[in-house]
Amino acid sequence: MSDDVALTHNHECFDETPFFGRAFRVLSSYIRNMDNNYLQVNKELWNNKVPHHLSSDFYDMPAFLAGKTSLRHIELGLLGDITGKRILHLQCHFGQDSISLARMGAIVTAIDFSEKAIEAACELNTQTGQNVHFICSDVYALPEVLKDEFDMVFTSYGTIGWLPDLDKWAGVVKQFLKQGGQFFFIEFHPVVWMLDNDLQEITYRYFKDEPIVEITEGTYADPNAELKDESISWNHGMAEVISSLLNQNLTLTHIQEYDYSPYACFPDVMEEGSEIYRPKHLGNKIPMTYSLIFRL
Ligand SMILES: C[S@@+](CC[C@H](N)C(=O)[O-])C[C@H]1O[C@@H](n2cnc3c(N)ncnc32)[C@H](O)[C@@H]1O
Repeated sequence: MSDDVALTHNHECFDETPFFGRAFRVLSSYIRNMDNNYLQVNKELWNNKVPHHLSSDFYDMPAFLAGKTSLRHIELGLLGDITGKRILHLQCHFGQDSISLARMGAIVTAIDFSEKAIEAACELNTQTGQNVHFICSDVYALPEVLKDEFDMVFTSYGTIGWLPDLDKWAGVVKQFLKQGGQFFFIEFHPVVWMLDNDLQEITYRYFKDEPIVEITEGTYADPNAELKDESISWNHGMAEVISSLLNQNLTLTHIQEYDYSPYACFPDVMEEGSEIYRPKHLGNKIPMTYSLIFRL
């Protein structure tokens, strides 16, 4: 650990639960005072995850290849008919959601900074006979490599926690929207990101703070994967997210919080309907996800 790291807490927990974005198995965590190398650290983390995710039950590749959508009812309900729409998908991982959007008739460009993820996405594109334009880029660097305008920008579940500066992110979103275009955003709730991996204790601030640095084993899609990586992330409260987009003169047209996750990615969840998962000990007491739509 370098000098610029202030150890604020250190815990070992070994829950057997996949968890989006934040680690499956946190060996130690601490708050780092500087975020200068976050891109390099997180890129390695995500590159390492890719082969494990591709073969995981979580991403259920056989069903996906057979035509099943990877999109959840929340975003499917919001998107409506996207036939012929030009969509930019930010932080697309290895492209299942991007290809699902393309299968619905959209013309999709999708970006991620993980070379391994984009490599896999291109293969999946070929395998599924789709024509998604995949680009390997950091979100913030995208304006340097892509000059285009879209009817929709889309990003979902486990994305902004990897980004330190939401004003910069919102600027990128706006830059790629055509006049009248829409931004669709679905994310895990910042209240969930405050909690430890067991969702038992309040461990992190609701508000953005110094970066959260964790050493993790396994990954949410494959708890037993032989992985041990560092990750650097941030929690972003709702007002921070919404203000960043309002400050770009986008108009908020939809906001909803949900008391469930559409993924079974938390400890001891109960399935209370199709794609409705809640932790047994919390029931419906906390918000777990939210969705926003903005229009330019
Ligand atoms: C949880 S995944 C996206 C979730 C998506 N719904 C899925 O499961 O397919 C987060 C993605 O963000 C990407 N990512 C993280 N930081 C990024 C950055 N600065 N620029 C571009 N992509 C980034 C990672 O490579 C990863 O693919």
